[in-house]
Amino acid sequence: MPDAYELFLNDLRRAKGLDLTGYKRPQMERRINSLMRSLKIDDYKTYLNLLEKEIQHWRKFLDTLTINVSEFYRNPAQWEILQEKILPELIGRSGSLKIWSAGCSTGEEPYTLAMVALNRFPNVHFSLLATDVDNEVINRAKTGLYSDKAVANLPRAYLVKYFTKEGNSFRLSDEIKNKVRFMKHNLLRDAFDRYFDLILCRNVVIYFTEESKAELYRKFYSALKPGGVLFTGSTEQIFQAREIGYNLISSFFYKRGE
Ligand SMILES: C[S@@+](CC[C@H](N)C(=O)[O-])C[C@H]1O[C@@H](n2cnc3c(N)ncnc32)[C@H](O)[C@@H]1O
Repeated sequence: MPDAYELFLNDLRRAKGLDLTGYKRPQMERRINSLMRSLKIDDYKTYLNLLEKEIQHWRKFLDTLTINVSEFYRNPAQWEILQEKILPELIGRSGSLKIWSAGCSTGEEPYTLAMVALNRFPNVHFSLLATDVDNEVINRAKTGLYSDKAVANLPRAYLVKYFTKEGNSFRLSDEIKNKVRFMKHNLLRDAFDRYFDLILCRNVVIYFTEESKAELYRKFYSALKPGGVLFTGSTEQIFQAREIGYNLISSFFYKRGE
């Protein structure tokens, strides 16, 4: 017999398309309950109603689960390794790049990649797919309007070249926006495309259960070309990497065996 939390997850999935069943329950439940307390709501049904009706509460819900915080050039040292070492190797191997930013949130990650690829490797053809389970963040990504916090780590040359200031916000140019194809996709449920040179999945799995993580990393392995690379987040070590067939080529970069 499912308890109240499990019933809430079922209703949430049906109403909003967000499936939290593969996520760690204690962390999720604590955050959701504290949100409800702050609104003086003590039953899940009333809360779900509010989430359905009021977009600002839905945003707050996602933000509080820290499900969708992102920024351009997040963890700069890792972007350096990507540009200096990983991308040149992948290009040497394939000549072009098929890239997937999985769990792309509001677009900062795939757009950073588009800027890097265009500037560092201007003659290389690349395709860039960006997916997220949440339609709301995809729509924000397509709009391309960002806060100063989101662009704080971005090299200044890119900020000047690809953004125009609008009040306190920064609007991304169409040149970069047109390089990314956004699509709704649930990593825990939907089928994966294949033959990627590079997959980025950073700061997405932190609330996934160990089982869903392990399965996801296997599915990414099959979705990569031989020699392709998976780029993970700073706190996301793959414990079964060797067993799956990955070689760790640099911290946070896992290469599929040949
Ligand atoms: C914290 S953001 C990370 C954004 C970006 N990758 C970065 O590192 O800055 C996590 C994103 O993962 C998405 N996400 C969570 N669960 C997902 C799932 N099952 N399938 C696809 N995306 C998911 C969330 O909607 C959110 O936008």
